[in-house]
Amino acid sequence: MIVLGIETSCDECSAAVVRDGHDILSNVIATQIELHKPYQGVVPELASRLHTEWIQQVVEAAIRQAGIEKTDLDAVAVTSRPGLLGSLLVGVSFAKCYATALGIPFIGIDHIRAHLYASQIENPLEYPYLGVLVSGGHTVICRVDDYDKIDVLGTTIDDAIGEAFDKVAKFYDLGFPGGVVIDRLSQKGDPTAYLFPGPSLDGDEHRYDMSYSGLKTAVINQREHFRKDGAEESPENIAASFQRQAVGILMKPVRLALKDTGLRRVSAGGGVAANSLLRKELKDLEKSGYTVTFPSLKLCTDNGAMVAGLGYRYLKDGITSDSYLSASARVTAFKKN
Ligand code: KG4
Ligand code: ZN
Repeated sequence: MIVLGIETSCDECSAAVVRDGHDILSNVIATQIELHKPYQGVVPELASRLHTEWIQQVVEAAIRQAGIEKTDLDAVAVTSRPGLLGSLLVGVSFAKCYATALGIPFIGIDHIRAHLYASQIENPLEYPYLGVLVSGGHTVICRVDDYDKIDVLGTTIDDAIGEAFDKVAKFYDLGFPGGVVIDRLSQKGDPTAYLFPGPSLDGDEHRYDMSYSGLKTAVINQREHFRKDGAEESPENIAASFQRQAVGILMKPVRLALKDTGLRRVSAGGGVAANSLLRKELKDLEKSGYTVTFPSLKLCTDNGAMVAGLGYRYLKDGITSDSYLSASARVTAFKKN
């Protein structure tokens, strides 16, 4: 079965063609980074306008690069939630029309589930496993029993991890997108230069939860100390020290959840799963006998292949969406029970 996946939830306009859920025939990602760079953040109205301009060309390029005809498609999967509403609507409206014109099913996909599923496309991992979903909008630790059976164990109680990377980079004028820049600068910095605080979340209900706003504020306040002390600011050391603590805050509940649940497999997904320190720390769990997988770098950040991959799983189980399905900015899944 051949599925076209469309992703327009934020600032990447992407379309991919995936055969049988694992064979990526094409994965075209048109990034809007240059457009949003001057604002050091994604401007929603600009994002949706560009999706409107690009979507048809991106889909046509994905079909061309896959070496198929559009009539070879068996279904169209599209991210329908959560995300920027205007951006989501471009993808959803296009996908519905495209599927209807071709007389094939259309499947609305939850973006967060797609991130979590991404590693399954390239490195299938046996269920159940501990899922670690880290992106610009979400930070979730969950038990994954099947592609659509996910129990949330812990989440951030304030900022998402990627948001913290982006805000620190913006405050220090390091560049955009923040996570990528901080990861790169950290390679040349001393991670022990500054000891930024981690959260202390009391209560059993927060056992696997995380918090990033305190870390973000501490890193931002550090600039005031530099100014008062007349000390020279090292972006590399700031980046490395922040990154070390950001990853540390996540790894603590990951280790705890593994111990408590007895799960022996771990898989990560989302833009921050591209982070080199996080990948190393997760990979290090293999020394303790765990099996660890994550998507290749291209499948960590937003892409159409993860949407097509998950769409295939739904299609195989006979689950499709009706034509009334619309885009929704809100997170409907991924709340703690
Ligand atoms: O999954 P994604 O592309 O979009 C969302 O669904 O949010 O994730 C984007 C986030 C941004 O916050 C970006 O700064 C972060 O992923 N990111 C990284 C890295 N690459 C992207 N964070 C840390 N290290 C990276 N190498
Ligand atoms: Zn995403």
